[in-house]
Amino acid sequence: MYKPVRFYFVLTFIAAAMFAFVSCTKEGPQGPPGKDGEDGIDGQDGTATCTECHDNSQVQFAKQIQWSASVHATGGNFERNDAECAACHTSQGFLQRMANGTHEADGKVVNPNPPNCYTCHNIHTTYTAEDYKFTYADPFNLWINGQPVDFGNGNLCANCHQPRIPDPLPVVGGEDVNITSPYWGAHYGTQAAILGGSGGYEVGGGYSNSLHTSAVTNACVTCHMADPYGVESGGHTMKMHYSYHGQERLNVAGCVSCHSDTDALTDLVETTQSEIGNLLGTLGTILLQQGLIDSTGRAVPGTMTADQAGAVMNYNMVRKDGSFGVHNFKYSKALIENSTSSLQK
Ligand code: HEC
Ligand code: HEC
Ligand code: HEC
Ligand code: HEC
Ligand code: HEC
Ligand code: HEC
Repeated sequence: MYKPVRFYFVLTFIAAAMFAFVSCTKEGPQGPPGKDGEDGIDGQDGTATCTECHDNSQVQFAKQIQWSASVHATGGNFERNDAECAACHTSQGFLQRMANGTHEADGKVVNPNPPNCYTCHNIHTTYTAEDYKFTYADPFNLWINGQPVDFGNGNLCANCHQPRIPDPLPVVGGEDVNITSPYWGAHYGTQAAILGGSGGYEVGGGYSNSLHTSAVTNACVTCHMADPYGVESGGHTMKMHYSYHGQERLNVAGCVSCHSDTDALTDLVETTQSEIGNLLGTLGTILLQQGLIDSTGRAVPGTMTADQAGAVMNYNMVRKDGSFGVHNFKYSKALIENSTSSLQK
């Protein structure tokens, strides 16, 4: 068995590390040699590779404080630890379902952790700097429609930030659907579908993608993890805004390689977001008037035509994507406009 071996391995090395720390000199005396088969690396100082990360460069500390300020750390929804929810809301559940290739964790996750260093990096696997490699960054297929996506290193994010499969799933031209819960829909993290330009209820025509879908190498990572502004945005905070003298500012560090004029970019973001915001407002008003959503935007349970359910789903997919058109303006716009016309027929 692999696990027990690794357990001894850690104990041996933590002991060795503590021994080195209390000695108060740069190079502590050599730790006691581990027994063959227990220290993993024969003939090497057990702590030699630890310092590839645990050094005094302060790099790891910077990532830790950034992460601590992220919604991953502070969001407070990781107590959603049943197998189904733990698949994205807990670190352990995510690693389990990715290893198994399923949509659920092995079971309820006791002692749940939110997404953290161990979720995204292979921390303490080889005990070398190699462990900063990503756990799961391969291209994959979206749950909702099986469509392949490849966002480079952003695949890591997209595995969780993708829609869940609404039950029932309305099909264009298909039968009426019976919605039994106000929580019905594609869930909160719809970004991978919107950015990738698929998975919405594609009624009508004219669907295409903005250049962000294919032009931004590493997608999510490029924009959300650009050079940090303290612990307010960028880096491992993954946030896009910081406040400067009381004003909200966009962290443009990940944009400037393409949008070199930052004033023009700020205007572009504003017009894009207000256009999508207005279109959403129009659709939301109609959905509310037709009794299909409540004032919080949730579905009103009952029987809907496929187009009605699709409109409710699209409304929430675009709203919950949270970028209001920055991720994929063209696709977001088509989903909302076409759904709006489908309700006015
Ligand atoms: C790839 C870089 C890397 C290497 C190499 C590495 N560590 Fe770590 N270590 C980390 C990270 C990241 C954490 C988690 C930090 C946190 O909790 O925020 C951590 C946490 C720890 C902790 C705190 C307790 C815990 O488990 O959270 C100890 C003790 C530790 N490491 C010891 C070691 C020892 C001993 C070695 C060498 C045998 C080693 N590490 C090698 C990155 C590394
Ligand atoms: C293991 C699943 C998982 C992975 C991997 C993951 N996230 Fe998240 N992310 C979440 C969850 C769950 C939340 C909400 C946390 C909460 O509310 O407790 C979240 C929240 C966020 C938020 C804040 C959203 C808001 O409403 O303010 C951003 C931004 C974000 N993630 C970006 C990223 C990026 C970028 C990556 C990849 C580098 C990534 N995430 C990888 C699950 C994940
Ligand atoms: C496919 C991954 C995935 C699964 C499975 C999943 N979630 Fe989430 N959930 C997310 C992501 C990602 C976010 C954060 C999205 C954002 O803020 O943009 C989130 C956000 C949330 C939020 C916060 C909403 C808010 O107001 O900000 C709640 C509550 C939640 N999920 C509950 C659940 C429950 C309950 C389950 C299981 C029935 C579940 N989730 C299953 C990915 C998932
Ligand atoms: C949601 C996924 C996610 C989480 C959680 C996460 N990281 Fe990362 N980390 C990344 C990504 C993606 C990159 C690459 C960023 C880039 O390309 O700019 C990265 C880069 C790094 C690097 C630079 C590695 C190198 O080889 O240059 C370090 C160091 C690091 N992370 C440490 C940490 C530590 C410490 C934690 C926990 C406090 C942590 N990360 C949590 C996704 C994550
Ligand atoms: C072209 C740059 C870009 C790319 C690529 C990108 N984002 Fe965003 N994202 C943004 C901007 C800008 C916002 C809007 C911030 C605002 O106005 O609050 C945003 C909003 C969000 C939000 C809503 C919460 C928040 O932080 O405002 C989440 C969650 C998110 N993005 C996750 C992702 C994920 C996951 C991916 C990859 C599948 C991704 N993003 C790709 C730029 C980008
Ligand atoms: C890899 C290059 C690249 C990066 C990085 C990038 N963009 Fe873009 N962006 C483009 C291109 C190309 C267009 C399309 C311009 C056009 O069609 O006139 C665009 C268009 C836009 C639009 C208009 C809506 C649309 O899609 O047509 C907005 C808003 C925008 N970008 C915001 C951002 C923000 C904010 C960031 C950083 C967080 C960012 N972009 C990062 C290349 C990039």
